[in-house]
Amino acid sequence: SILVLDFGSQYNQLISRRIRELGVYSELKPHSITAAEIKELKPKGLIFSGGPNSVYADGAFSIDPEIFNLNIPILGVCYGMQLMAHMLPGGKVQPASGTSEYGETVLKVTDEHSKLFAETPAEQTVLMSHGDSVSAVPDGFTAVATSDSTPIAAMENPERQLYGVQFHAEVRHTVYGMKILENFIDHAVHANRDWSMDDFIDEQIAKIRETVGDRRVLLGLSGGVDSSVVGVLLHKAIGNQLTSIFVDHGLLRKNEADEVMDALGGKFGLNIIKVDAQERFLNKLAGVTDPEQKRKIIGNEFIRVFDEEAVKLDGIDFLAQGTLYTDVIESGTDTAQTIKSHHNVGGLPEDIQFQLIEPLNKLFKDEVRLLGEKLGMPHDLVWRQPFPGPGLGIRVLGEVTEDKLEIVRESDAILRDEIAKQGLDNEVWQYFTVLPGVRSVGVMGDGRTYDHTIAIRAITSVDGMTADFAKLPWDVLEEISRRIVNETDHVNRVVYDITAKPPATVEWE
Ligand code: XMP
Repeated sequence: SILVLDFGSQYNQLISRRIRELGVYSELKPHSITAAEIKELKPKGLIFSGGPNSVYADGAFSIDPEIFNLNIPILGVCYGMQLMAHMLPGGKVQPASGTSEYGETVLKVTDEHSKLFAETPAEQTVLMSHGDSVSAVPDGFTAVATSDSTPIAAMENPERQLYGVQFHAEVRHTVYGMKILENFIDHAVHANRDWSMDDFIDEQIAKIRETVGDRRVLLGLSGGVDSSVVGVLLHKAIGNQLTSIFVDHGLLRKNEADEVMDALGGKFGLNIIKVDAQERFLNKLAGVTDPEQKRKIIGNEFIRVFDEEAVKLDGIDFLAQGTLYTDVIESGTDTAQTIKSHHNVGGLPEDIQFQLIEPLNKLFKDEVRLLGEKLGMPHDLVWRQPFPGPGLGIRVLGEVTEDKLEIVRESDAILRDEIAKQGLDNEVWQYFTVLPGVRSVGVMGDGRTYDHTIAIRAITSVDGMTADFAKLPWDVLEEISRRIVNETDHVNRVVYDITAKPPATVEWE
C-alpha cells in the first residue's frame, strides 16, 4: 500500500483515491503517525499531502523525522515538498514574498532524465497553489522542473527515492498528474498495480469478521445507496449477526419501500425489521407548514422510531453506518471506534454504548457505487439519484397530507419513468415533481376544472451545491406533461422550473 500523510489539504483524500485508481491500495493517515507505526503497516511508499500552512508557521504540522530513515520512497506534494526541503539538510524554504502562485501554470521540465516526468512533455500545465516555495534543494537532490514564479517546482533524489512536486498532481487541472503519480509508483515505489475493488471487499470482510467476532450489529437502512451497500457488505461478512431497521415514514417515492425490501430483504437475504410508521409521521406533521419545522419533526421522529425498535433488541454491540469519507471529520479513524450512542442516533438511553462500524469511510461516492455493483446489487439501487432525508415531506409545499403525497408520488413516478425511457437518467443529476399547492382553472372534456399544478424540477449538477436546470427536450417535456395530467388525479396543469441554483435551491422547501 501507499500511505498518504495528511497535512490538511482539501485534496488529501483525492491523492489516496488516485493511487487506488492506479491499482495500489492507499489510505490517508494523520501526519502525527510515528515511524514505528508506519513500519508496522509496511507500506511500499509514502506521500506527504499538501496543507494550508507555512512550514514556518507557529504549530506548523511536521512529522517524525525518523520517517526519512525508513528507506521507504516518499513523494511530497506542495506543503509535503516544502516540508522535505525544510527538514532535510541543505534544503531551504522561502517564505511567501509576492511570488505566490495560484491556478493553472505552465511547468517546464528541466531534466530529461527525471523519473517523475518520464514520458511527459517538456512543457505541461499544472495546478499551483502556494505562497512559500523551495529555494534550495536538500543535499543529494536535483531540481527537475521550473515555472515562471517558482524556480524549483519539482525535485528528485533517486538514490534515496525521495521526490517532491510543488503543484497538485492529484487534480485534473494538472494534465499529466496521473502519469506523474504512476511514474512514482512504477519507478520509485515499484508496487504491483493489481489492487481492485474486489480486494477491498475481501479486506473489509476479513476486517469486519475480526472486529465483530460472534457479536451482533445493528444497521439503519434508509433505502439510499450508502446504507444499502453497507448492509449487503456486512451481510456478506457476518450473515444474520446483522439486524437492519428500515423505517417507512410514508414519505418515500412510489414503490420505494417495497423495492428496498425486495432487493435487500429478498434477493440478498438481509434480516430487516420494517417499521410502518406512516401514520405516526403524518400525525406529527398535521397542521405544520414551515419547511424547517417539517424537517425537524421528520428527523426527530425518525430517531424516535429507530430507537424504539433498537432497544427491543438484546445484545447488540455495534452500530453500522454508511459514512463516506466526506462525512468523516477526523481522518485516519479505525474501523471501529467507541462512541456514545446519542452522538449519532439521538435518543437511545445514554447507558447503551455501541461501537461504530463504518466500512465506507475511506471511499468516495462513485467508489461506493462501484462497490455496490461488485457486490451484485441492482443497477437502479446503486445508481439512485440523491433523495433528501425528509423525502416527499418537503416536496408537498406547506401542510403534508396523504392526498397530496399521493399526487406527488404518482406524478414523480411518471417523470422517472419517462426520463428512464428516454435514457436521460445519466445526464440529469436529480429530477422530481413538486406540489406547490396552487390551484388553477382548466378544461377537461366538456367541463371546467379547478385543480392542482405540478412543477417539474430537473437539474444538472456535480455535487448539488450549484445547479442548472436541465435542458430537457420539448417533446420529452410534452409527453411527461401529457401523462401527468392524464394519469394523476387532481392535476390539470404542469409547469417546468427553469431556475438555476443559486438563486433558487434544488428543492422548493
Ligand atoms: P438544496 O435544496 O439545498 O438541495 O439546493 C441540495 C441537495 O440536497 C438535498 N437536500 C437534502 N438532503 N436532507 C437531505 O438529506 C434535507 O433536508 C435536504 N434538503 C435538500 C437535495 O435533494 C439536493 O440533492
